[in-house]
Amino acid sequence: MTLIASLNLAKESDAIRLIEAIGEDDALGYPSAATTEQADQSWTVDVYFEDAADEDALARVVAETLGPNVGAFVVSDLVDEDWVAKSLEGLKPVRAGRFLVHGSHDRDKIQPGDIAIEIEAGEAFGTGHHGTTAGCLEEIDRLGKIHDYKSILDLGTGTGVLAIAIAKAWDKPVLATDIDPIATRVTAENAVLNGVGDKIDAATAEGFDNPAMVARAPFDLVVANILAGPLIALAPDVARYLAPKATVVLSGLLVAQGPSVTAAYVAEGLTLARQGEQEGWLTLTLER
Ligand SMILES: C[S@@+](CC[C@H](N)C(=O)[O-])C[C@H]1O[C@@H](n2cnc3c(N)ncnc32)[C@H](O)[C@@H]1O
Repeated sequence: MTLIASLNLAKESDAIRLIEAIGEDDALGYPSAATTEQADQSWTVDVYFEDAADEDALARVVAETLGPNVGAFVVSDLVDEDWVAKSLEGLKPVRAGRFLVHGSHDRDKIQPGDIAIEIEAGEAFGTGHHGTTAGCLEEIDRLGKIHDYKSILDLGTGTGVLAIAIAKAWDKPVLATDIDPIATRVTAENAVLNGVGDKIDAATAEGFDNPAMVARAPFDLVVANILAGPLIALAPDVARYLAPKATVVLSGLLVAQGPSVTAAYVAEGLTLARQGEQEGWLTLTLER
């Protein structure tokens, strides 16, 4: 069972400081965390735990980072909260590069020249509002202008937002995989909704543990917006299934985690070509 611990803060800078401290705390075990701007312009920090949330450690990190009297994290069951649907209520469309990620209620916001991606409230991650997704979308838009990739993998696809962006912008097939079968089902549905159902194959796999992935390798573009820990663990396999000349776009890591993630891929023969930051999250572009 996944638990979500949430704390609302007035200032974005406090939310970013807190999320960085949480991401570096040994006792918390480097959990997944995200900040979201609310309709009243406050910021919510959400931290995800499997099975148990260490509320004492969270309280300690809050006090050490932001001082006393800031408030406490409230822990709830992620499924009961229907968190994705909740987080989508009132969300504005997001622009990243030429992409506009929007809900069905905002179809009228699409401008000429936009590459529109419609993502409905669902059960998977990836609405474009998170800095990691937006960072990847911007990098995808940039890379498409200078490369012509043939074999593309979106590893940790969530809603399929990045795979859909690639398929729509470049008219190319994409293999979209996720460890979570709900995410791969949502991706397949979103691909059809966005008119690229014939271009996206969705498969469930932890890392590269699926024969469909091995059969589609080597990849000349891999995008993976996961988290620092899994990205480091996946470095040898990503490198193994890369084409001789290839690009890897990584996100889901905090600024402080950039050097260790980069080092894991440099050790596999890749070179850091570029890095961008959004809301305290890094997007790395590596090349072979
Ligand atoms: C932060 S979400 C990113 C979703 C989407 N690609 C985006 O950019 O918004 C990370 C996704 O990676 C998946 N994931 C985590 N570890 C994985 C692994 N080892 N192999 C495949 N998918 C994984 C999660 O289930 C989740 O859907």
